[in-house]
Amino acid sequence: LDNGLAQTPPMGWMSWERFRCVTDCKDDPANCISENLYMTMADKMVSDGYLDAGYEYVNIDDCWMTKTRDENGRLQADRERFPSGIKALADYASILSILVHSKGLKLGIYEDFGTGTCEDYPGSKFYMDIDADTFAGWGVDMLKFDGCNSGISDMPVGYPLMEMWLNKTGRPILYSCSWPAYFVVEGKIPEYEKIAESCNIWRNYYDIQDSWASLKTIIEFYGDDVGNFSKVAGPGNFNDPDMLIIGNYGLSYEQQRVQMALWAIMASPLLMSNDLRDIADASREILLNKNVIAINQDRLGIQGSRIFKMNDFEIWTRPIEPTGSVAFSFLNLADSGTPVKANISTSGLELDMHAVYNVTEGFSGSVVGTLTNGTFFTVGVNPSGVFLGKATKIA
Ligand code: GLA
Repeated sequence: LDNGLAQTPPMGWMSWERFRCVTDCKDDPANCISENLYMTMADKMVSDGYLDAGYEYVNIDDCWMTKTRDENGRLQADRERFPSGIKALADYASILSILVHSKGLKLGIYEDFGTGTCEDYPGSKFYMDIDADTFAGWGVDMLKFDGCNSGISDMPVGYPLMEMWLNKTGRPILYSCSWPAYFVVEGKIPEYEKIAESCNIWRNYYDIQDSWASLKTIIEFYGDDVGNFSKVAGPGNFNDPDMLIIGNYGLSYEQQRVQMALWAIMASPLLMSNDLRDIADASREILLNKNVIAINQDRLGIQGSRIFKMNDFEIWTRPIEPTGSVAFSFLNLADSGTPVKANISTSGLELDMHAVYNVTEGFSGSVVGTLTNGTFFTVGVNPSGVFLGKATKIA
């Protein structure tokens, strides 16, 4: 979507995978979906370096509303859990940014294209114009527009309609569509070109869960790239393989590095869904790694692809700046054994055999060596682990 937003994959925090639809604040005040949760996460994003690293959107997901619209048909936030209202949250995000003289912290919200959200709160069907106006009035900066309780045949018309209403508000609102995911789930190939024209980012596939199994199926879906969706990614439009689950319960240290590395190669939005109040240092370091974020945020905005797969071993590459350079991942999907040995070579990475590359390790930035046709470097790739590298063209 050509609205000036998402020139690189958006970065932020989103409540869903970790905090779900906990609405009983008496029972679980620290974790329920409430203004307190989003304010606390916003504070953490500022104080613990996430905002500085580029994570700027705080995203409310499902379960923020009352079960009915108000007498004017407007959506309303649950009064007990959001006593100050959504506008106050958006204001809180801006004020916080001003106080710390940082780039703006932004607020994202969730609604659904159908008659109800996935957790059965009021949907936008028949109310899209009003809802767009409400969100803009509150100062919302991003909308995740889900597709529960609707039919996929309505989506190619309905999602662009919401794009139009958002556009009419005059407020730049990053538009995240779940449209293609609902097609894929029904075994249909979405019209990715059309989706990219109307949406800034879009969910392609099933929801991520807090597990290696879930992560692997998403990576495989992206590797298979059925319908060539990787090709429509670029500044302003990115495929969204779903939230980062780094720092939660399900992934080992190596597996967390896999997610970060692959999300960088795939030019994916980096939307963490974790508890920033309680996160291991090692996970935080992965999320804040400047070198990996730089690959993710590469200005060319080209989505990487899987160029090799044999058994549990895969090679992924992503063209990055300066022209002719690539970021690459050797991925070992095996969940047993010792590290596999893999060679970094111009042929293996499908690089120009007449060029010279400076190869570095992707997380640490440490130098691996100078690569030309005929030279190679052998590295180990841990089980359910990754070797992330960068081959920068120097001649
Ligand atoms: C769908 C989405 C999730 C989340 C839930 C909320 O499953 O794909 O990301 O937003 O709905 O109910």
